[in-house]
Amino acid sequence: MKQFTSIYDVSNLEQLVREARALKANPVQYEWLGKGKTLVLLFLNPSFRTRLSTQKAAQNLGMNCIVLDMAQGWQLEFEDGAVMNTDKAEHIKEAAAVLSQYADIIGIRTFPSLIDKEKDYADFVLHQLVKYATVPIISLESAIRHPLQSLADVMTIEEYKTVKRPKVVLSWAPHVRALPQAVPNSFLEFMQAAPVDFVITHPEGYELAPEFVKHTPVEYNQQKAFEGADFIYAKNWSSYTQYGSILRQDEAWMITNEKMAWTNHAKLMHCLPVRRNVVVADEVLDSPNAIVVEQANNRTFAAQAVLKQILERVM
Ligand code: CP
Repeated sequence: MKQFTSIYDVSNLEQLVREARALKANPVQYEWLGKGKTLVLLFLNPSFRTRLSTQKAAQNLGMNCIVLDMAQGWQLEFEDGAVMNTDKAEHIKEAAAVLSQYADIIGIRTFPSLIDKEKDYADFVLHQLVKYATVPIISLESAIRHPLQSLADVMTIEEYKTVKRPKVVLSWAPHVRALPQAVPNSFLEFMQAAPVDFVITHPEGYELAPEFVKHTPVEYNQQKAFEGADFIYAKNWSSYTQYGSILRQDEAWMITNEKMAWTNHAKLMHCLPVRRNVVVADEVLDSPNAIVVEQANNRTFAAQAVLKQILERVM
């Protein structure tokens, strides 16, 4: 693997998931692979799971891992041709070139503005780093995708499925803040490539970008969508069409036991963090059908499989 910024960097998803599951069974079997190699993780936005699981993945492969919380340091300038007379002290051209001297692989987390749709959907910050770095880049969540999360999600579905081709439903749920579309966008891409029957359900106004939805069925009736489901993936996102807006916050779309009863004893997934009793009710999160913690555990092995494939290429 050359880099990992989306599913388009994955040549064989089935094999990558198999590799992640094998690493979970024996996490330190390739401890020698990353010896003398350094992973630098840049966080332009905060993280709990991605930071810890990627660090742990690197450690399991014997890599050094350096984490830089960019919110605490100076701001980077990403615009080419910028007159740097504001608070941004360093251009990505120098920063990426210098980082490439220290790191064998660089990970970056960015966040969308949720104001400038065109710039967000060009994934500008991620692509400026890819452009100016000379080492492989992995996305720790960009303005529009979260591929490490989605890889862990596919792995989790593989682990828990009881039928060859399960029905997976991505359901919008309410939230108090305007959240990015990165998790649902990536989930769409990975589900479209996975052996599942996949449906999206959301209220009108929450349609995702057509280039991500493609031919995936959209069912506006949440009950109809849930019928026969083996997995419910709950997630909030802000409106794509009225870009970055919150159109509704009422409880009508919250995931409850009553709604889970419409399904085929479905497992409940969420990328976390989850707002209890806003996005998903306590009764669902505290039930044996909630697999969110194991889903988060799988983040380590998804990241490890990606790092392993990149290391094998650069060695
Ligand atoms: N799911 C996820 O990416 O969590 P963090 O924001 O804590 O990394």
